[in-house]
Order: sequence, then structure tokens, then C-alpha cells
Amino acid sequence: MTSRRSTAEIFEKIPTVIFETSSAAAAALAGEVKALVETRQKEGRQVVLGLATGSTPVPFYRELIRLHREEGLSLRNVVTFNLDEYHGLAPTHPESYFRFMREQLFDHVDIPDENIHLPSGLVAVEEIFDHCHAYEEMIDAAGGIDFQILGIGRTGHIGFNEPGSSRDSLTRRITLDRITRQDAAGDFRGEENVPRFAITMGVGTILRARKIVLMAWGEGKAEVVARAVEGVVTEAVSASFLQEHGDARFVIDAPASRELTRIKLPWLTGPVRWSPEETRRAVCWLSSTFKRPVLKLTDEDYNEHGLSDLLSEQGPAYQLNIRIFNQLQHTISGWPGGKPGADDTFRPERAKPYPKRCLIFSPEPQDAVVSIGATIDRLVEQGHEVMVVCMTSGNLRVPDSEADKFASILLEIGETFAEGWGQQAEYARMTLQSLTDKGAVGEDPASLRQLKSLILRGEVRDAAQALGLSHERLRFLDLPFYEKGRYRRFVLGSEDERLVTGLLREFMPHQIYLTGSASDPSSVAALCAKLVEQGLASLQGETWVDACSVWLYRGREKALEPWQIAMAMPISPMQLERKARALARCQSLTSMEQEVTRVNQMTAEQYDGLGLANYEAIESFQRRVVGS
Ligand code: GLP
Repeated sequence: MTSRRSTAEIFEKIPTVIFETSSAAAAALAGEVKALVETRQKEGRQVVLGLATGSTPVPFYRELIRLHREEGLSLRNVVTFNLDEYHGLAPTHPESYFRFMREQLFDHVDIPDENIHLPSGLVAVEEIFDHCHAYEEMIDAAGGIDFQILGIGRTGHIGFNEPGSSRDSLTRRITLDRITRQDAAGDFRGEENVPRFAITMGVGTILRARKIVLMAWGEGKAEVVARAVEGVVTEAVSASFLQEHGDARFVIDAPASRELTRIKLPWLTGPVRWSPEETRRAVCWLSSTFKRPVLKLTDEDYNEHGLSDLLSEQGPAYQLNIRIFNQLQHTISGWPGGKPGADDTFRPERAKPYPKRCLIFSPEPQDAVVSIGATIDRLVEQGHEVMVVCMTSGNLRVPDSEADKFASILLEIGETFAEGWGQQAEYARMTLQSLTDKGAVGEDPASLRQLKSLILRGEVRDAAQALGLSHERLRFLDLPFYEKGRYRRFVLGSEDERLVTGLLREFMPHQIYLTGSASDPSSVAALCAKLVEQGLASLQGETWVDACSVWLYRGREKALEPWQIAMAMPISPMQLERKARALARCQSLTSMEQEVTRVNQMTAEQYDGLGLANYEAIESFQRRVVGS
């Protein structure tokens, strides 16, 4: 029997299920695994699961643990094979996949130890070939993998099958791609500490699994998901080989779906309900794709490019163009806190009250300065009461070399002035010793984390000062979830909630600036955004909450596109220079973050292309819709 394929499926060459949130997706998937495990239990058979690491499968593992604890699911008949392991890391290393799996799953469920398999990170180079061969044989001897879980790396890799991995590749050692190492830099506190090699199942090994589910969360994965699902099958994106598997599926959340044709260009895949947002998206797309300013689009342009129903519903082109042009025009405002005394009917922010109390949330200390430094600058200049809240200490990002630099200077001062500096010199010696003791990849003791927090505070104070923001306008919350955790596996606690809600209540802002809503849910930004959202929800009903406007900005994720922007804050060349100078004061920024001014320029170029004013650069914001 052949069923009619929907138009979306013609673009999507792998069945793709989009869930609103990652937790809903993970719950559905865990439910599926539960059913499989229990069916096999009844038949007295084992289930072979292929498991993955990274932040992506964490919500899935948490749900399995919950099912085990609360709903009596036993995993005694489960055999597991992990995809990969860093080569060179001992199983005890905090970033080894062995340890990750213990902490995230194995220690909390009843899978027998002898059923658990991972490639060894410590196998001698001359034994790698045999080790990998034996791994393949063990999988076959277990009857092959029934259910393979996958994440996807930014290079499109599955396991560690970096670009260039062939369809038939088997378990082997691989050199990690530069992008992959950059992505892991946070986990290892510096790219230089990330291992260069890994042992990974091959693409061919993975494709032998009977059922495969690839999960992806957050906007950061949207592009690579679309390439894997809709693009050509290519060694450049090893996940694209899943197109050739008979039972492979992508399970993704809404932000990770944004580059799929059915979401991005829905008019190409079926009838569209033309909401104001979809209309703006279509007009901006038509204008930018065909490089014609909005006001010059013609009826023919709409008709010839799949937008005839939009034209018939809202045309003629002339009227539609003007309407969208005006909407876009009204997003531009150099008065992010509202323009006092002005008619604000078409302005993004209301004029009253003036001045406003503006609360700017920065998940890690430097995030806000990097992403919206020019807006902060403008708010201060326009007389608003600005408070930048550095939610976490960010100390995991500070490289050892910075701590070494600081301690060495302190030691030298201590030795030079000797008298009265004994304690400081002692502290410096202790710090230098703890750096040596832990080595490049060891865990930082609490005292070192504290020093690194202070170093980062110094950087941020310095950067803020360059934006005219005095020290008193910076608040360091040092949320406990960050101090207790590591990247990709932070867990929020009630103390975090209490601190954030307390701050909201104390400050009672008229405006909030927030980031993280489209990020990978396990990222620091997403967790921080969740805390603020929860805090606001718990205070709902207080008059200030109902009147407070919440502006969403993008940090490390993809910049907003013009159709999404509700407030575009233009930046003059001089201000952009000032922002760049502020950024230069943050030594712990990655090279990607340093390039943010280029991202601001690109947004301005997009506005220009649509036929709006030609600014040097733009910082952009989305309006948070209540209840979204
Ligand atoms: C690593 C792992 C992959 C994982 C990828 C993405 O490269 N070897 O299996 O899919 O990271 O990680 P995350 O889920 O943290 O985004």
C-alpha cells in the first residue's frame, strides 16, 4: 500500500517529529524504550540499546531514571553499547564518557555492569585496531543494536564521525574536527585541553542498528538538522547517511526545527494561515532572496514564488508591501527604554514611566555586554536605572593561564614588599601549587573556582565601565547550580529559584532583557531564562509584573532575522567602536564572541537590503509573548 506523501515529506528525507519542548520529546522517547524493554522482558529476551553522550540525551536519561524509580521500570535485561569515548582519557576523568554515563544513567538504574560497553579511552595505540574490531564483534554477538540513540554535533557528526567519514566506516580512532573541539572547550576549560582523538563507532556500525532515533534541541542545531534531513547524502554531514536507513527518525524540539522548509518557508509545503508573523516572514524572505527592497516587490514576484495565496488574501503587492515596510520601520528605535514625552503608538517600547528600571539578565557575566552592549550603553546614557545581573560566576570558562597570571603577580608583589604581605604571598603560592597539582585537565578545587570568579568579575567590571556602567550597577548572583555543576549537566535547585525571584521582587523592573529562550535546554543561558520565567510566573498578579516588558536577545545562538525582530537598536560607527573596545577588555571571550560586532553589522545589512535605513550596525530584540 502506498500512502500519499505530504509536501513536507518530499523535502524531509528522514521522518522528523517536532515536539514543543525537549522534555516532552524525551518523555515520549523514554516511554517507547520502556515499552520495548517490557515487551522483551515478557518474552524473556534482552534489549540492546546504543547510547550517546553530550547534553542532548540527558533529559531522556533523566526520564528513564524517573521511570525506574517511580514506575518500577527495570532495565536488568538491557545491554548497552556507547557510541564513543575520548582517546587518552581515563574512565575516572570528569569528562570521560564512561564517567558521564555513570553519572547520568548507569549509577541510577539497574543495568548489570557486565551488560555495559564503551570503547576504552586508554587503549594503547598499537592495540586500537584489535580493540575496535572486538567492539564490533561484541555488538554482533549481542545480536546487534535494537534501538540506537543519537545526538548531532555542529559538524553534522553522529558519534564522532567527523566530516569525511564514509558510509561503511566501522569502529575506529578518529581525529576530532576543530569545530567539535571548540564546542567541547567549555567542558575542558580551554580548547587546548580537549583531547585530539576519540574512538567512535563508524557510520556503518550505526546504520546496522534496527531502529535509530536522533535527538536535537535548541536553535543552535537548526541548521545542521536541516542539512541532514533535507540535504544530499554526503560524507560532509555524517548524519545525512540516516536517510538511507529504513527505520531512522529525527526527534527534535521547536527551536531545532526552524531551518526545515516546512517551518522556514511553509508556503512551499502547504497552505499557510497568514498570521502577521508568517506574513512578515514571507515578505522578508521574498525581498532578501530576490534582492529587491520590500517596496519594490510586484504582484508577479509574489505569484511566481509560491506566495499567490498571500497576495490574493492581503494584496495587491503595493498595499501589502507598504504595510510590512511600516511594521519593519517601526521596529527601529534608538530609545530602547522608550522615548520620554513622545507619541509611542508605533514605538516598540512605551514612553512612560521615565526613567525606567531596567533589569538586564546575563547568564554568564560577559553575555550581556557581548550581546547587547550598545543597548546597555544607550539605556545608561538616556538616564534609565540599569542593573546588569550576572547570574552565574562563569568561572568554568576562565583558563588556568589567567589564574596563573594573577597568582604570579600577587606572589611577586608579596615577595617585593615582604612586610605585611605574608598572607597574600602564601595565598598566591597555594594557588600556584593547586594549579600544578590538578594538572591541565583536573577539576578545579573550590578555592581556584573562586579566584577564577573574581578574575571574571574584574573583566566584566572593566567592560561595563567602558560602556558607562558603574560598578554598583552590576550584581553578581553566583547561582549555586553553576558552582555545583559542570557544563552539559547542571541541575537547578530551589536556592537558585529563591535568589532570582528575590531579585525580581526587590528590583520590580519596568523592563527585562533576557536571553536563552531558544538555546539548548541544558545550556547555562536556557537554565537562567527558565529561572527568570519561573520567577515571573510566581509573581504574576503583582501590578509591576503585568506591566513589565520582557525583551529577548540572542547570545551565542544565531542572530534574530528581521521578520522576528520587534525592536532594532541602531548603532553608530562610534558606538560600535565603543562596544568593540568593551569586548576587548574581556580576555575570556572566545574568538567567536569577539566577532559579535560583525553579527550586529550583518543585521544592519539585512535591514538595508529590505529597503530600510542603512545603519552601521543593529542590536535586535524579540518581544516575549506572555505565556509563550
Ligand atoms: C559529541 C558526541 C556526540 C554528540 C555531540 C553533540 O561530539 N560525541 O555523540 O551528539 O557531542 O553534543 P551535545 O548533545 O552536547 O550538543
